[in-house]
Amino acid sequence: MSGEIAIARSVAELRRQLGVWRTQGQRVGLVPTMGALHAGHLALVAAAQAQCRRVVASIFVNPRQFGPREDFAAYPRPEADDLAKLAAAKIDLVWMPSVEEMYPDGFATTISLGGPAEPLEGAHRPGHFNGVATVVCKLLTQVAPDAAFFGEKDYQQLLVVRRMARDLNLSVDIVGVPTVREPDGLALSSRNVYLSADERRLAPRLHRAMHEAAAAIAQGTPPASALARAILALGEAGFQVEYLELRDADTLAPMDALAKPARLLAAAHLGRTRLIDNIEVKQEG
Ligand code: PAJ
Repeated sequence: MSGEIAIARSVAELRRQLGVWRTQGQRVGLVPTMGALHAGHLALVAAAQAQCRRVVASIFVNPRQFGPREDFAAYPRPEADDLAKLAAAKIDLVWMPSVEEMYPDGFATTISLGGPAEPLEGAHRPGHFNGVATVVCKLLTQVAPDAAFFGEKDYQQLLVVRRMARDLNLSVDIVGVPTVREPDGLALSSRNVYLSADERRLAPRLHRAMHEAAAAIAQGTPPASALARAILALGEAGFQVEYLELRDADTLAPMDALAKPARLLAAAHLGRTRLIDNIEVKQEG
């Protein structure tokens, strides 16, 4: 049951509701999602509720950020479950546009970023961040929130959204929220449902290997050798590693030696599932 949860399905309905809150001077937070909600999404909702009088969650599986061979059609869409979770979390409004409402016939605008959008995910998923930036820009202008909340799980996405908001002078605070993990370390993701039982048992090794590599680097092992060892071990365990790299945490520029602040970022396939993860690398002492 979705209970009495308020849902807007058109920009006009959305603006009507937001207008009431705005005339009352209430601070509005936005949590953009593609649905298939889990505790990671709900942590964003909780962070938003801690800072904002009203919280809007959007659910929109954005076709423009999926590549032609990616899982747009198969992406999970458990709408009734999602609405029940948002109702239980006492969300104020769910913004659920159709593809036609978001991208009407003749839609011709793309937000395209360089900088933090170029390496890593940008190199392996061409066009992905243009799709993300375009839809996030639209969500931010549709809702015009005071703050918007993004997970560190998608660390590069968080940097891309921050860069876009700065470059376009969007008047919104972009807030990052730490990654929520399973007890065995696997980062929660809507795509974890694709994992078979065997793959699910293996999946936390990605986080473990990253953790070990980060600790070795922090203790002075040259990053190249710590990362090569981790990639080899993950390959032997059955992962196909796309990248595992140490990067500047602010710019994502490559980093040969540890300097602050640094981030370890990875993408790896396990069967048909593509997992991504990232962790902070702390310098010792
Ligand atoms: P989605 O994958 O549904 O994620 C929505 C938000 O939840 C993102 O900000 C993501 O980083 C965050 N999130 C996902 N798993 C998390 C976890 N384990 N811990 C903390 N936060 C987590 O990311 C997208 O959707 C889309 O690209 C979107 C921004 C909605 C644009 O379409």
